[in-house]
Amino acid sequence: MQRLENYFDYAATTPILPEVRDAMNPYFNELFGNPSAPYAFAQRAFHAVCQAREKLRVHFNASADDRIVFTGSSTEAANQVIWSCVLDHWRKTGKAGTVLISATEHSAVRNTVYGLAKMGFCEAEIVPVGADAKVRCDILEEKIAARPILVSIIGANNELGTIQPVAGIAEICRAVQVPFHCDATQLAAHSLIDLQTAPIDYLTISAHKLYGPKGIGAIVARDGAVLNPMIFGGSQESGLRAGTENVAYIVGMAEAYRILKTDFAVRSAQERKIRDWIILGVLSEIPDSRLTGHAEDRLSHHASFSFRNVDSLLLQSALDQRGFAVSIGSACRSNQIRGQQQLIEIGLSPEWINGGLRITTGLYSTSDSAAALLAALKDTVRTLRSLTA
Ligand SMILES: Cc1ncc(COP(=O)(O)O)c(C=O)c1O
Repeated sequence: MQRLENYFDYAATTPILPEVRDAMNPYFNELFGNPSAPYAFAQRAFHAVCQAREKLRVHFNASADDRIVFTGSSTEAANQVIWSCVLDHWRKTGKAGTVLISATEHSAVRNTVYGLAKMGFCEAEIVPVGADAKVRCDILEEKIAARPILVSIIGANNELGTIQPVAGIAEICRAVQVPFHCDATQLAAHSLIDLQTAPIDYLTISAHKLYGPKGIGAIVARDGAVLNPMIFGGSQESGLRAGTENVAYIVGMAEAYRILKTDFAVRSAQERKIRDWIILGVLSEIPDSRLTGHAEDRLSHHASFSFRNVDSLLLQSALDQRGFAVSIGSACRSNQIRGQQQLIEIGLSPEWINGGLRITTGLYSTSDSAAALLAALKDTVRTLRSLTA
């Protein structure tokens, strides 16, 4: 039996809060009606979807005319935004426009843009990041002068934790009227995003990074920003996403964001306290270790490291055998190169790129479980190094 306090992969997903489950439950049971049905019985479900939408609007301080579309995941939300912009440009001009993305996008964005580029609908252009994984805004400003059709930049990096200067990027894009998509799947789970302060044209989010259900996401699209359906059928979601609404999950998502706001100060202080303790412990007690990503501007629950000349696959597996869940991110396996693409992007040399490890804390992390994880990590790194010395 796995112990919940030994789970240190909250950036991958989180368990559902009991309050979220309670809010969802009626929509699996007595309030199961189809929101599109006209009778009173089903209208309770319809109103629940409307209410959830309004709660998210308030949460993100979106304008009354901005559109909030529920999707099946954050990945689907990012796909819909990118497909919409790319195909709209293609339809209007018959030409492939350029999509500017950062070098450290999640595959939800990167592979969507590359996939569309492979089909000839767009071209992908990369904005590099610095050694701290911050997007090079000076280069963004240069590249945006060529008028890409979309800029898509992750709000906070899932593997390295670095938070991007989202409001500044939004201003750069707005100044030249290029739409800006921010994949805020991680950022929105650990900060309170205000769309009046950060004029983002498309925000994409999910629920399962903040103690809500998996399999639900949303797009918050500024009024007037191009957005077309990607799934055709019925006229749900104002014709922008066909299919009977996943009422319980939509309700659960709104509830997860409501609780995030209410508990924000306490929750982020708690996850940061344990996270900082782990960072200090690793850097001071494990030789040849380094923090990856930005030292301060990082997600409050996020610690990421690299261990010199250590194979993180073995490290993760050894920690798993001791009952700890940690992540090594998306390891790049192409062309026999073993290493993490994001560590290459931030310029680490070969002896560091196989040793990436991500530890993310959350509601059920304790000082004791963090201490046990640190002890296991120290021991495992030492053993792995002695085997290859
Ligand atoms: C930054 C980022 N974008 C997108 C996704 C995909 O989210 P979903 O699982 O809701 O599709 C993730 C999930 O890890 C993520 O971290």
